[in-house]
Amino acid sequence: PPQRPQIPKHQFCADLSQCLFDFVVQLLPTAEELAIKEDVRKLLERLIRTIEPDSRLLSFGSTANGFSLRNSDMDLCCLIDSEDRLPATDLVNMLGDLFARETKFHIKSLPHARIPIVKLSLDPKPGLPFGIACDIGFENRLALENTRLLMCYAMIDPARVRTLVLFLKVWCKRRKINSPYKGTLSSYGYVLLVIYFLMHVKNPPVLPNLQQIPPMRPISQEETHLNGHNVWFFDDINVLRQRWQSSNTESVAELLIDFFKFYSRDFTYNTGVISIRAGLLSKESKGWDNDPDKGTARERNRLCIEDPFEIDFNVARCVTRDGLYTIRGEFMRASRILAARPERAFIALAQLCE
Ligand code: CTP
Ligand code: MG
Repeated sequence: PPQRPQIPKHQFCADLSQCLFDFVVQLLPTAEELAIKEDVRKLLERLIRTIEPDSRLLSFGSTANGFSLRNSDMDLCCLIDSEDRLPATDLVNMLGDLFARETKFHIKSLPHARIPIVKLSLDPKPGLPFGIACDIGFENRLALENTRLLMCYAMIDPARVRTLVLFLKVWCKRRKINSPYKGTLSSYGYVLLVIYFLMHVKNPPVLPNLQQIPPMRPISQEETHLNGHNVWFFDDINVLRQRWQSSNTESVAELLIDFFKFYSRDFTYNTGVISIRAGLLSKESKGWDNDPDKGTARERNRLCIEDPFEIDFNVARCVTRDGLYTIRGEFMRASRILAARPERAFIALAQLCE
């Protein structure tokens, strides 16, 4: 059959950008859902305070970082501001019993997990069509800080950053490559891939590196460090909005196309470490390349994404050899679909998320 002429790239990108915005808007949580979640948080906080009066229950993860899709899970963290608090194991058991008595949630306590948590869930019902799933952890202050960091990046350029991240979150769920338990990557890992790409690959960059902007006043080690990790970053969004304007004017569609191109073709998976804090690092320089425990180190470091604060921690350590092969295959598939530029951009989106 005769080949149709390919539509011009700029026209495809304009169309695709609009489709991406329209697609993502429908996936945002409703005001009602957010209100229900906030009510749940308050209820649970009130109950926890009957056991630990000096505690606070805070949201982290997608509900707090600006990258939340409709019906996403709630990640909650309990902080206890007193010296003589109960051990996490006891607390998890006691809270599990308390929630089971006082609420309608299904409860599962995991007191002996590496990170002890209480899991709560509510079955779907009219007005709550997807139910609620919620994990409560304890004293996870680093997660609260990395949530705040991601939130700042979301706020600097919401139209492009949030659209890209939210689309990729849907895409990786639909393509079934978002299960750390099955050897693929967590949502947190994908968000770091996007930020790295926008900050260290794109030139001119779309995002500034908030961890490298000097503070406006001198600050002490005490203020910048948490459990031995430097968690400082420039978090004054108002100042930043006035002073930082990216000279990168690419559309969200152009960025998406290049994102897939970069991670399917250009990134050096065998030797490279993705660090939003410091740019491209080598596995060798971090000691993530050698094989001291007969293969386990290597197996844990197929894909390397440095946590922004816990820099000895590879966020992608769950990604297996097969998992990485599948993920890279998906990046290539996506690149191919977009390079073909179907006449209507929404067809490309539908194919991507098939
Ligand atoms: N987190 C972390 N280290 C990891 C994984 C997660 O510190 N290796 C913390 C981060 O604070 C992250 C939060 O846990 O924001 C939730 O992680 P995840 O569920 O992967 O991301 P969400 O944005 O909540 O994605 P989803 O909507 O899919 O739940
Ligand atoms: Mg989550």
